[in-house]
Amino acid sequence: MIRVALLGATGSIGGAALDLARRYPDRIRLVSLAARSNDAALVRAAKEFRVERIALVDAAAAARARAAWTGGAVLDGEDSLRHLAEDPGVDVVVNAVVGSVGLSPTVAALEARKRVALANKESVVLAGELLAAIAKRTGGAILPVDSEHSGLFQCLEGRGSKDVARVTLTASGGPFLRRDARTIADATPEEVLRHPTWSMGERITVDSATLLNKGFEVIEARWLFGLASERLSVLVHPQSVIHALVEFVDGSVVAQLSAPDMRLPLLYALSYPERWESDLPRLKLGDIATLSFEEPEPARSPGLALARQALTLAGTAPAVLNAADEEAIRLFLDRKIRFGDLMPLVGEVLAMHRPSGPLSLEAIADADRWARARLHEAATHWIRR
Ligand SMILES: NC(=O)c1ccc[n+]([C@@H]2O[C@H](COP(=O)([O-])OP(=O)(O)OC[C@H]3O[C@@H](n4cnc5c(N)ncnc54)[C@H](OP(=O)(O)O)[C@@H]3O)[C@@H](O)[C@H]2O)c1
Repeated sequence: MIRVALLGATGSIGGAALDLARRYPDRIRLVSLAARSNDAALVRAAKEFRVERIALVDAAAAARARAAWTGGAVLDGEDSLRHLAEDPGVDVVVNAVVGSVGLSPTVAALEARKRVALANKESVVLAGELLAAIAKRTGGAILPVDSEHSGLFQCLEGRGSKDVARVTLTASGGPFLRRDARTIADATPEEVLRHPTWSMGERITVDSATLLNKGFEVIEARWLFGLASERLSVLVHPQSVIHALVEFVDGSVVAQLSAPDMRLPLLYALSYPERWESDLPRLKLGDIATLSFEEPEPARSPGLALARQALTLAGTAPAVLNAADEEAIRLFLDRKIRFGDLMPLVGEVLAMHRPSGPLSLEAIADADRWARARLHEAATHWIRR
């Protein structure tokens, strides 16, 4: 039985984790749950799984939860995520919160030598190099939940980077793969949020439409697998069946395939090194018939180029990219800027940034604050009046 802290329990990945806990009551014991402000859903899950404690970052939501649930402790504030992550009574932390707020619990869990089933990609984008060093020092481990990195992890089977010639991450291409490129700039939030193959939270869905999400995944692969960026490529694969391919130095290529269902990579991050029997959706290749691949078109994937730029700049540049993007997405979803303004605006902030000094958690936090402020300054020229 593994004892699990689930951070981001009310989200899309959080829901997948609750589903797995329901399917494997003899293997997964949910000890604690956390969210930002959705107290109703969190309390419902706390009662169902009889957890020992919950955390709501929002203090008012935590107060409501204390009135509605007396089954255990209710923590509040951002620090509460860290407290749940370092709890000695927890073996595995599923980190499924969205945004840079996820970094501190990832660090805390690794420092406490735990396994982190990591969906919060921002942790690795911001601080991949630091996280790899902490895991090496403490013996903690990151098991990727992102389907592409879980795919890579499964293809590599522990092989080091010296055996690898190239890895390829696949991208669905997002909602605008076939749309007339001239009309994409004016896409509405409703159109952007309608993803063709995956049902996900708002932020990652918008990032999938600019392909910045795929760019973030390139940065993640750099640090999770120690691969130089020249060896990381992206192919558009609209069926989302092959998640990753590894070409080894001898020319052999190994790919990982599965139905596009986030419960599968999450299950592997929990069961590893075992595989647990499941009745999750099976891949029926005969029904799919065609698997197709194409190079990403630069006009439809501006986020990919920005992420590569941030990876080259290194240091705090990925943190700047992430924070500026998070703020710009909010402006877009609030209909203050056009979809076509998103990446140029984020690019403007990235171009202003000068990474300096050694990378540290403090430097990342400073860069994050700097980028959010610059984004809002820059946006005043773009915001619709
Ligand atoms: N969805 C996918 O298929 C998928 C695939 C690969 C990777 N990921 C990554 O997994 C992470 C979660 O994605 P998602 O799609 O599940 O997001 P989501 O549906 O938007 O859920 C986000 C979760 O994080 C919580 N949260 C948001 N802001 C928070 C804050 N400031 N402090 C604490 N908790 C906060 C939310 O709580 P409230 O409900 O209370 O706001 C919710 O539980 C992201 O990093 C994403 O990139 C997702």
